Parts: sequence; C-alpha cells; structure tokens
Amino acid sequence: MIIEIRKYNRKVQTICERLIEASGWEIARPPAHPNLPTQQGGTIFLTRDELTKKYIGFCRIVNSPWGDIWIMEICVLPEYRRQGIATTLVDKVIKAAKGKVVIAWGVDKGPKLFEALGFRLSKAPVYFHHTN
Ligand SMILES: CC(C)(COP(=O)(O)OP(=O)(O)OC[C@H]1O[C@@H](n2cnc3c(N)ncnc32)[C@H](O)[C@@H]1OP(=O)(O)O)[C@@H](O)C(=O)NCCC(=O)NCCS
Repeated sequence: MIIEIRKYNRKVQTICERLIEASGWEIARPPAHPNLPTQQGGTIFLTRDELTKKYIGFCRIVNSPWGDIWIMEICVLPEYRRQGIATTLVDKVIKAAKGKVVIAWGVDKGPKLFEALGFRLSKAPVYFHHTN
C-alpha cells in the first residue's frame, strides 16, 4: 500500500470527491461554523494500490483551533475494505500527530476501527485518542 501525504488543493479535492462517490458513502459533516476549518482544507493521507497505482482511499485531517487534530473524513473503496487500509491510515495520522489529541468526527459506522486503535467514545458523537 502506498500512502501519500498531500496538502488539500483542487486536484486532491477532486480525487477525494471521486472516492467518496465511488464508495457510495453518504457523508455527514459536522455543522459549518465560521471559526472551524472543517469543511475544506487540511492534509490528506491518500492511499494507492501498489500494482495499479489507482487511488483507493483517503483520510482528511485538519488542525483544530484548540491545537488538536481532527479526522474529518475517512473512506476506502468497497472492493478494498476489510484489509486494514483504514487502520493503517488512522495509525499514520496518530503518528503524524506526535502526541497531540486526535479526534474523529462522525464515526458512527466505524466504532471498532477506532476502538481497536485506542480511541475512546466521548459523550459527543466523536472518538478521541490520547497517546499518553
Ligand atoms: C469505515 C471504512 C473507512 C473502513 O475501512 P477499511 O479499510 O475496510 O477498515 P479496516 O480494514 O482497517 O477495518 C478495521 C476494523 O474496523 C471494523 N470494521 C471495518 N468496516 C466495518 C464494517 N463495515 N462493519 C463493522 N466493522 C467494520 C472491523 O473491526 C475491522 O477489523 P476486521 O476487518 O479485522 O474485523 C470503510 O468501510 C468505508 O470507507 N466506509 C464508508 C465511509 C465511512 O463510513 N466512513 C466513516 C467511517 S467512521
């Protein structure tokens, strides 16, 4: 599996939108807020198939105004699921966060994925990860 860490830009946005569409995911984003950089931007962890070089999944993170890292979207194409790709992506995010708290939003379909990586469910519908 190849993972590329890319800044969000028009080209990356198009790749991610195509992946969301191909995955059939009806994405539920947190409500828009003028002070929160959640709707766009941030950093994308993009995954490609090693053989075909095709893009097969991504995870988008943003730096929140409180100094932690938010996982805004994570998506893997259906034919590549249950092979540990999302787990690897989130693991890379945790390592890149270098001890900062990582919060995953809108994880209703992925509790086991996040719990297996040490995330705990908070009262709000998010998962958070402390490395300490
Ligand atoms: C959720 C998603 C990203 C998981 O991607 P993935 O690469 O298949 O995940 P992994 O292979 O790393 O799975 C890790 C663990 O998560 C859990 N898991 C993953 N998909 C699951 C599913 N559909 N139902 C129940 N548990 C699931 C399992 O415990 C799995 O471990 P296992 O395969 O050893 O049982 C993928 O299914 C997807 O893109 N879904 C649509 C988009 C979406 O809902 N994103 C938000 C998720 S919070």
